[in-house]
Amino acid sequence: MTERQVDFHVSRLAGTHFGCRVEFDSDDLARIIEACRREPARLLDAFYAARGLMVIAGLDGIRRQPRALVELSELFGDEVENYRETLTSARFFHDSVDQILVLSNAAPCNHPPPPRAVGDDDRLPRQFPAQVNWHTDQSYRRPPPDITLLLALELPPPDQGQTLFADCIAAFEALEPGFRARLEALEAIHAPSWIGRSRAAVEKGEPVLDLQPHQLPQRQPIVRRHPVTGQAALYLCEEKQLDYVDGPIPGLTPGPDGEGSALMRQLLAHATQPAFTYAHRWKTGDLVIADNRNLLHCATWYDAERYRRLMWRTTVMGNPGDEYAGEEKSWIPLDGCALMAGMEHA
Ligand SMILES: [Fe+2]
Repeated sequence: MTERQVDFHVSRLAGTHFGCRVEFDSDDLARIIEACRREPARLLDAFYAARGLMVIAGLDGIRRQPRALVELSELFGDEVENYRETLTSARFFHDSVDQILVLSNAAPCNHPPPPRAVGDDDRLPRQFPAQVNWHTDQSYRRPPPDITLLLALELPPPDQGQTLFADCIAAFEALEPGFRARLEALEAIHAPSWIGRSRAAVEKGEPVLDLQPHQLPQRQPIVRRHPVTGQAALYLCEEKQLDYVDGPIPGLTPGPDGEGSALMRQLLAHATQPAFTYAHRWKTGDLVIADNRNLLHCATWYDAERYRRLMWRTTVMGNPGDEYAGEEKSWIPLDGCALMAGMEHA
């Protein structure tokens, strides 16, 4: 007798207007992947209908079969980043799977938690500037990546180390039409946090690093049109990951006290207001799949002295949209030098 096929069920994510939850009627990893591969379009339709936020619970088994995380990632795009080729710092490498980035406060990774947000009530503050860590992944690359997958393997208590998500389609749609039209004509300059161009670095007068051509800050549109759904979304980043030497917004006065900074602060506060955000309280085995093209996300503080947190991450790229048509990757060295030479803080 043949085994019954595993099916999956999609439901809305509780407590928010966006996001979906996928449940399988089996906890057998091979059969879960087989079910996804049988109906990839149904999975992707659910993902995009939920504005690019999907939670799949119960995938703790990937701990013993790490390749399965890459197999799941490949359903969301053709190209999954190979971190052994793109990072110099071996502390983030997974033992056996080159596409997995290890994020943990435990050795050898020693990745610290973000700072504790300051709020005026006992609830976790979500909105910028009380919560400062809002960003999209690797926005200092052109083209930027499409989707991030995060698997939780070891966690602090669920009120700590949450991940927040902001629906930047809703945030854009809520703006006045005239303001939207003005934003459509603007770009922001995105830069790695460790090269002396962040707001804090400029305010402290830190030296600006000399960079190789493939490490230079990159301009990105402030409004992106999603290549799959056609929806327009704000594309923003925290002040750590923007350039406050030449930007953050070309054409507006640069620097921490300039017009560009004021507009970016206004947009970050707008997009991260509670009406547009969701806070994910992790459970071990949760896989969260998030679209960087139209969501902001933000890890929150946890007590790293008391608790260990271990996440595995993959990054899918290759479908950034028409703005990037035909572009070579800005971040690949042309002359054979090491990708991150001089940027070892990464
Ligand atoms: Fe991130």
